[in-house]
Formats: sequence, C-alpha cells, structure tokens
Amino acid sequence: MCGIFAYLNFCVPCQRQNVYEILLRGLERLEYRGYDSAGIAVDYPEEGVHIVRKQGKVKMLRGIVFDIEKAEYSSIVSTHVGIAHTRWATHGEPSERNSHPQSSGEDNSFMVVHNGIITNFKDIKQFLEKENYTFTSDTDTEVIPKLTHYIYHHTEEGETLTFPEVVERVISQLEGAFALVFKSTVFPKQIVAVKRGSPLLVGIKSERDISMDKVNISYRQRQSSGDDRAFNEGGQSAEYFFASDASALIEHTDRVIYLEDDDITSIVDGSLRINRLQKHAKTDETASRQITTLRLQLQQIMKGNYSTFMEKEIHEQPESILNTMRGRIDFSTDTVRLGGLISHASAIKRCRRIIVIASGTSYNSGVATRQLLEELSDVPVVIELGSDFLDRLCPVFRDDVCIFISQSGETADTLNALRYCKSRGALLVGITNTVGSAISRETDCGIHINAGPEIGVASTKAYTSQIVSMVMLSVMIGSDRISKQKRCTEIVQGLKELPDLIRRVLKKDHEILSLAKELYDEKSLLLMGRGYNYATCLEGALKVKEVSYMHSEGILSGELKHGPLALVDENMPCVIVVVKDNTYTKCHNALQQVKARQGRPITICEEGDSDVQSMSYRSFSLPSSVDCLMNILAVIPLQLLSFHLATLKGLDVDCPRNLAKSVTTE
Ligand code: F6R
Repeated sequence: MCGIFAYLNFCVPCQRQNVYEILLRGLERLEYRGYDSAGIAVDYPEEGVHIVRKQGKVKMLRGIVFDIEKAEYSSIVSTHVGIAHTRWATHGEPSERNSHPQSSGEDNSFMVVHNGIITNFKDIKQFLEKENYTFTSDTDTEVIPKLTHYIYHHTEEGETLTFPEVVERVISQLEGAFALVFKSTVFPKQIVAVKRGSPLLVGIKSERDISMDKVNISYRQRQSSGDDRAFNEGGQSAEYFFASDASALIEHTDRVIYLEDDDITSIVDGSLRINRLQKHAKTDETASRQITTLRLQLQQIMKGNYSTFMEKEIHEQPESILNTMRGRIDFSTDTVRLGGLISHASAIKRCRRIIVIASGTSYNSGVATRQLLEELSDVPVVIELGSDFLDRLCPVFRDDVCIFISQSGETADTLNALRYCKSRGALLVGITNTVGSAISRETDCGIHINAGPEIGVASTKAYTSQIVSMVMLSVMIGSDRISKQKRCTEIVQGLKELPDLIRRVLKKDHEILSLAKELYDEKSLLLMGRGYNYATCLEGALKVKEVSYMHSEGILSGELKHGPLALVDENMPCVIVVVKDNTYTKCHNALQQVKARQGRPITICEEGDSDVQSMSYRSFSLPSSVDCLMNILAVIPLQLLSFHLATLKGLDVDCPRNLAKSVTTE
C-alpha cells in the first residue's frame, strides 16, 4: 500500500540525472506496493523544486521525468534531496492531482510523501480551510504539508523551529497510520522522516568508514544530552536512502536502520539524528536504534530467467521451503528445533487454546494446518480473519496462544488484532517473512519463514512456506508425547522429500498450460475439496480471481449439497481435489455428484488413482506424500493455473488491478 523512496546525498557529487534515476529505480522496486500513480520532487535551480506526478505505473512517470533542460540534467549536485512515491489510492481516485508528493501550496515550501491513512484529516482540513488554505486534491495526505506550513509560520514570538521540531509538532496532531518523508525549500538540503504503524527504513552509505553500529535516540531537540549520538556527527560525505521496504535499498547499501513508531529521523548537515516524541520517554526500553546489515541479495529481487516475479516465485518453491526448514529439522533424528520459539515452548505446549489470526493467503495457510495443529496439540484451534476478529472483539484470555501469520508482517488487520491480543495478556507468536516488520517485532516469539523476498502481488511461495512453518510448529508441540511420536516422525520424513516432490509437480507445468488454454474464456471456476485441501481450494480460488479476474469460488465439498451444487451444469468448470486421506470417499462422492449433473470435473488426484482419473474430464496427478503435506503439492497446479489464465488474457500478473502487496490500512 504505497511505496516511499527518498534520497539525500551529502557532499557526494553526482549528476542530476543520477538523482532522478536513483529515485525512479527505487520506485520501480516498490511498485508492488501500489501502482496507480507515482511522483517525485527534486531540487531544481531557481524554482527551488521540480515536481513530476503522473497517473499510472512508474514507467509512465519515467516517460515524462527527463523532460527538462539538458544543461540541468547533466549538472553536478553535491548535496541534494529527492523524495518519491508510488501510490495505491485510498482517498481520491488515481489521478495526477491526487498523486504524491503533496505540497503546502504554490511555493512548494513543504512537500510530503505518505504511506497510510490520516483518520482525522477532515478536522485538520476544516481548520486549515478557515485559515485560508486552499486544497487541490481529494487526499487525506494534503493536510500534512499544509499543516506543516501553518505550524512553521505560527510559532511563539521569538521562537524559531528546526525542521525536525516542525515535523514533531505536525505529527502530534495526526491520528492514523503513516510513514512520511518531508522535504522543504525553507530547510534546503535537509530531510525529515517519521513513521507510525507503516514501515520505513533508512539505508546508510558512507564514502569513508563511519563504523557506528547504532544511533542513540533522544527526546528533546534542544536539550541534547551527552549520550545523544547522531550518525556522522560533523558531516562527512554520506548518502542516505529512505524506503518502505529493504528491497529498494539493497542495490545501494546493506546498512539499514528499521525505524520505530514515532521516531523522527532527520538529516541535517549530513548527520542523521533520531528524536522521539517526549511521551515515550518513560516507557522506551532501548535508547538506540541498531544499524543492521541486510542479508538480502540483489539477485533475490531480480526476475532472473523468468518474465514475471509470480512465475519465478512459483518455481522457487522447492528451494524456498527447503530454506524454511534449514537448520530447524534434524532428519537423522527426525526432530524439529525452532530457535525462535525455544524460550516460550513450554508455555505454548501448556496453553488452553490456540487462535490463529491472519488475512488473505496467510489466513488460508492457517486453514490448511488447523487439523494437524489440533491433532498434535490436543487443544482447540480457532482460525480468525484479522478484520472480523476485531469487529467482534473476540474474547481472549491470558492462557491463549495467538499466532499471527503474515508474509509482510505489516498487514493492518492482523497487526491491530495482535495489539488487541497483547492488551489481553495472551502469548503472541509471529510467523512472518519480513525481518524487522511490525508483527515480528511486536510478538513475543516466532518463526521467520525464510522464503526470501516475495515481490509478485499474488502470494505463492510464502503460502507454502507458511504451511511448512505451521507443520513444524505442530510437530514441535506434539513431539514430547509418546502417543504422537510415530506421527511426528512420519511428517518429518515427508518434509524431507517435499522439495523433490514439488520439483516433479512443477515439471508438469505444460499440462496446466494446456488446461488454462481451455479455460481462460470461462466466466467462472469452482474449486472443491475438504479436510487438508479445503484450504487448497480457497487459495486456488483466491489466486485465480486475483490475477486473472475470473470469478472463482473455493467450496468445502461437504457443503456442496447445501447450496453450491445448484451452480453445477455442463457449462461450469469444476476443479475437485481428491487425494487419499481420510476424506477420500467423501470427495469421491462429490466427484460423482458433479458427474451426475453433467459437470466436467477436472480432478487433482494422486498418481495411479485410475478410478478418479477415469471419472474425470481432465485430471492432474500428484506424487503421494503424507496426508497433511499433500495440500502443499496440490496448490501448485492451481498457482500455475491462475498464472497461465492471466497470462493468456494478457494481464500483468505481478501488478493485478486494484491490489497492492501489503495492506497497511484497515
Ligand atoms: C493474496 C495475497 C493477500 C495477502 C493478504 C495478507 O495473494 O497476497 O491475500 O495474503 O493481504 O498479507 P500478509 O500475508 O502480508 O499479511
């Protein structure tokens, strides 16, 4: 949901065209977060600032950005500030005037890029309108630069505010979730960034070796204490990058600081300083922010030999699930050791109830593993959608374990549910793919799924790694009990073979392509399954609608007779998952019912199941694995199907319409 990128070079001479290029490339890396409009603001001689905004994807912006005087394009800038944004519209339709940067007025003295939502923007707007400010966009964001302008010009007599102090006063008035980067012609060569609820990192690249590993935080701009240490005090040459996500930084630097809520980060005279809102002074446990080294590799965020990230990520699954298991499973002893849970393992094993909370695909991974978690923990397991859970203000108790599954680790619905559960004293476990994300930081313990960056908007490899993580968690819980040991050993052995089995499924991609060629003109697609594979159908249907825009429904086949059967006729394509677990006979019945209504069932079954194959109109067979792991294999043909349906329709699978990768607003 919106991507922010900003760049400040301090005493590092570079051509102006490079500044544009750095900003545009940063936006291209963040485009998965939103892609309905984009904009940049850079310093420019005489006018002070050059703002370019454009509806559409970043390539549209790129197309008009270099439309400036040749001389300016190649001139050298030694210290320079540029801010950039790619938008996923919430307030106001996608259009040039609603794009960011938003400005304080005609002179552009303050400009802001924003990710998130300002919930009290109407009150602020009303106030500012009374003060004669004129609004030109429909965004909630526009109140921020205008309020900044107002605050800057309304100080006490004799008071002069620094740029970070102005921003501190601005954010004290804002409610909602945001990451903001400010640029100003009043404070040239300075930048201020702040976050609350939305992610923001700062990357540091220093020409000379400034070997600090942390930056101290302070609470008052004016009364810096002795230990108030800025990065690069004294201002040696350095470059700074702000971004919503590490993937936009990695080509420039691997030294980053993950900012915390209410950190006001400023770069003034080349030094980076972090101030906090005074209200946190009593409760803050750490007095510094660590400068960490990213483990991300540039090639991980490139498409390699694939034409889209979605295809690449589907085909990466043998490796990504291996990475999820790496160092956590000892296949010689069939044991699972989850380092991130060790200190809370006994509390997890003693709990009275497990609540799994997530959204979208991550929710489906909870559905996929619920049965196993119940089996191995012997406690009730409840699966909740983050948004619904909060609407109901569900009762949560101190002896509950709440598991939050999220690829991005920043989904607002899941994060808000987490904070609600925290206030009720439950133990919080995070299962995320993003180191340093809000969910991984705010939970008591967790599993990092290690699937590698997932850039395609449709989640694929994260889903299978989430399932593997939940399976490992279930085995860890169950393995202490003698009665469960045989089952745990069988599952661990199944996990060992899984990467090879996934490779075998992927090799049959051509079969799915030919199926897609038959189906891509259809209006609707039903997917039916039960037990471990109900989730497979939910996830398959989500993928199909998400990237191919074809209506699609995942149905629990036990519910078929209770309504959905009415949809079945000779025209409705139905995918039925029938594998040899405890639901086999019942799924077989569903298959017969579809046949009896002249349906043309497309089955996903196990290799050698000639009975199911003979009843099918088309059939795709999977190698056999342990029952609770078959859903990992069964979802892959459906991921491929959605990919091919969309590609055959000429759609952009990495950037489906109306969607964004991480949803940081409710
Ligand atoms: C579907 C998809 C979304 C996300 C959902 C939760 O392909 O990507 O449904 O799964 O928005 O996101 P995370 O997992 O980041 O919390």
